[in-house]
Amino acid sequence: MQILDFDSQVFLAPMAGITDRPFRALTASLGGGNIVSEMVAVNALERKNLKTARIADVRDEPYPVVVQLVGGDPALFAEAARMAVDLGAHSLDINMGCPVKKIVNNNSGAALMRDPLLAAKIIEATVAAVPLKVSVKFRKGWDHEHINAVSFARMCEDAGAAYITVHGRTRSDFYSGTADWDIIAEVKSTVKIPVVANGDVTDVFSARRILEYTGADGLMIGRAALGAPWLIGQTDAYLKSGKLPEAFLPAKIKAVLLRHIDGLCDYYGERTALQLSRKYVCWYCKGLHDAKRFREQYTKINDLEAALAAVNAYFDGLPERPAEDDEK
Ligand SMILES: Cc1cc2nc3c(=O)[nH]c(=O)nc-3n(C[C@H](O)[C@H](O)[C@H](O)COP(=O)(O)O)c2cc1C
Repeated sequence: MQILDFDSQVFLAPMAGITDRPFRALTASLGGGNIVSEMVAVNALERKNLKTARIADVRDEPYPVVVQLVGGDPALFAEAARMAVDLGAHSLDINMGCPVKKIVNNNSGAALMRDPLLAAKIIEATVAAVPLKVSVKFRKGWDHEHINAVSFARMCEDAGAAYITVHGRTRSDFYSGTADWDIIAEVKSTVKIPVVANGDVTDVFSARRILEYTGADGLMIGRAALGAPWLIGQTDAYLKSGKLPEAFLPAKIKAVLLRHIDGLCDYYGERTALQLSRKYVCWYCKGLHDAKRFREQYTKINDLEAALAAVNAYFDGLPERPAEDDEK
């Protein structure tokens, strides 16, 4: 079952502070999949907060972007949804899974799983406001005493969601333990709209497994893509062709990382880009030889030219073979 117009079962997860324009552009250039934005707060967008409007602005991106909205008020959702359309959204997703205190204390994110009536109003208001597909992303439940993903999925369907994404953890789990794929399978066997399975997909094999195990129509990859934006395109290609992807050797990783830093510079300016690049450098060299030393060295660098030289020197000094967890 095709989920969005873009012919792919694979979704890049929305990740605040990560799936910004540079990350999305890189992911798309490396083979694509369905690309989702960071979450956008509806109250800030409605107030025309400049920073938030910039996060929601996907007008000049040459690939379709699912823009994710977060909030707790149906009227604000309707208004923000209309603004997101003007800012180029290809479709909209509603965040009903974020576990962060600041968000749930505002009756938003995963808190909406405790208030399905309000959640339904939000979905209905958003669907009625825009001519785009509207999806919902949620968790297994609030905590282990309140597991309601199946009834919540039914509510989303009745309220007009085009598809749903289920992360197999409760709000109280945050990101700990393993994701429960059984609950995703249960949801899939309950609703007719497409279901996207999320939680603990780390490579092309677990991508195939989650689809087979849950029967879901698509899958979403988050943390595994942090230092590997190519994983989305690789997984898409693997699911379509059955051919195993080529290993990403250090020279190729370096090229992607340098492009990433370049994209951060264009979008944020050099100073912020250098700061942001520190976390990415840590992720890109996960499992590589001598990574610990390089990370320590990189985080101390305060100058872009020196940072780029350090990346070149580190990666050029690595053996040209796949990284098989030889981090020491
Ligand atoms: C740094 C970070 C930021 C995240 N931000 C969001 C967000 O803005 N919206 C959302 O729905 N989920 C967010 N998530 C959750 C992911 O979309 C995903 O559901 C979760 O990481 C589980 O998938 P994974 O096991 O593939 O990482 C975030 C996760 C991480 C690690």
